[in-house]
Amino acid sequence: MTTRSRQGPFRPGAGGLPPYLAGRASEQALCRALLGDLRDGLAPSRDLVLHGPRGNGKTALLVWLQQEAAAYARVDVLSLTPAGMPDETKLVERLLPASWWRRFAPGQVSVQGITWRPGRHDPPPLDEALAVRVRKAPLLLLIDEAHTLDVAVGRALLNAGQQVGRRSPFLLVLAGTPSLRAHLNAMDATFWNRADRRPIGRLDEPATAAAVRNPLRGDDIDIDDDALAHIVRDSHGYPYFVQLWGQAVWRRAADAAPPGTAGERRITLAAATAAQAAVDREKDDYYLDRYEELETLHLLPVARAVAEAFDSRPLLDDAQLETAIRRGLDAAPESDPTRAKDLLRNVGYVWRPEAKPVWESGIPSLMDYVREYAPVTRSA
Ligand SMILES: Nc1ncnc2c1ncn2[C@@H]1O[C@H](COP(=O)(O)OP(=O)(O)OP(=O)(O)O)[C@@H](O)[C@H]1O
Ligand SMILES: [Mg+2]
Repeated sequence: MTTRSRQGPFRPGAGGLPPYLAGRASEQALCRALLGDLRDGLAPSRDLVLHGPRGNGKTALLVWLQQEAAAYARVDVLSLTPAGMPDETKLVERLLPASWWRRFAPGQVSVQGITWRPGRHDPPPLDEALAVRVRKAPLLLLIDEAHTLDVAVGRALLNAGQQVGRRSPFLLVLAGTPSLRAHLNAMDATFWNRADRRPIGRLDEPATAAAVRNPLRGDDIDIDDDALAHIVRDSHGYPYFVQLWGQAVWRRAADAAPPGTAGERRITLAAATAAQAAVDREKDDYYLDRYEELETLHLLPVARAVAEAFDSRPLLDDAQLETAIRRGLDAAPESDPTRAKDLLRNVGYVWRPEAKPVWESGIPSLMDYVREYAPVTRSA
């Protein structure tokens, strides 16, 4: 085996870069093209927004992009989270760190004809701070969990980004859950439409198979076709579950043939089936987190009615989703179906992956869990 970690190559868990980033070839090609333009000093034509339900790999793609950017020597990369920029001043500080300011003290800084005296109590406006940074080097600014960005900070950033990015090499990449769209609209009515939006959803079957098989192969472990087919089916292409499965079967292979010993390095259907209970335990843990999220929002009966509607079909149109939501709200007639739909979308229970008015479940197998445990009515 070539992986040195005792945990193996797979990375179940938030933000872990998977050993093989499957099914994102078109997004990766787009990112490389954008990085190439940045390196050449060109202003990118559009900013990039990655959006999708939890656990589908938005952070993984950002981490990949950050690593990839290292190959574009001239490009400056800054990765921020909303928690690190609670107000505009903090964002300015992040854009222009103290060490950078010290180089200019005690003189003046002049950018594009605008001059100010740097000072602890007198930070430059955001657009000027951004312009200064971009003049030093092309800038890639990554913001994860952007659906939690403070609206005022976000508005100022999008505005500054538009001023600077129109003529300078500045690329903003935002990632967030399906509520990101409404959140960005509250900051800037046209940003969403101006940006290049990429839905980050579940992996298709070939990508799911590759996500499991390729890292195993890298560790000289073979997997039988029927075992792989079982994993593809059971994980529904949900990236987090794909990593759980990869790790579970890798461990079995590692136990059967520890590093440095000769032994069977093949995962059979029997071996995969034997790992099922361990995988199910971890999946149940994850479902419980999502279940509690719905419980806090008093949405369990609605979620259950929606899960029942999805039981017979993979997609729902608007009317079908609304009918299900109304059925779930029956016990509470004062409740607002539009609000319930927004909340379900915000937590990624349902979402619209394509530019079509159809709804898909964020995690199909979560629907089974909700059907099994959620009450039919609020008082149940
Ligand atoms: N393309 C991929 N191929 C294989 N595994 C992936 C892929 N993308 C992500 N994963 C795995 O899926 C899991 C979830 O990924 P990640 O944390 O990036 O999702 P997310 O969309 O950022 O979720 P959240 O909204 O909760 O932050 C991780 O274990 C990660 O390694
Ligand atoms: Mg994430």
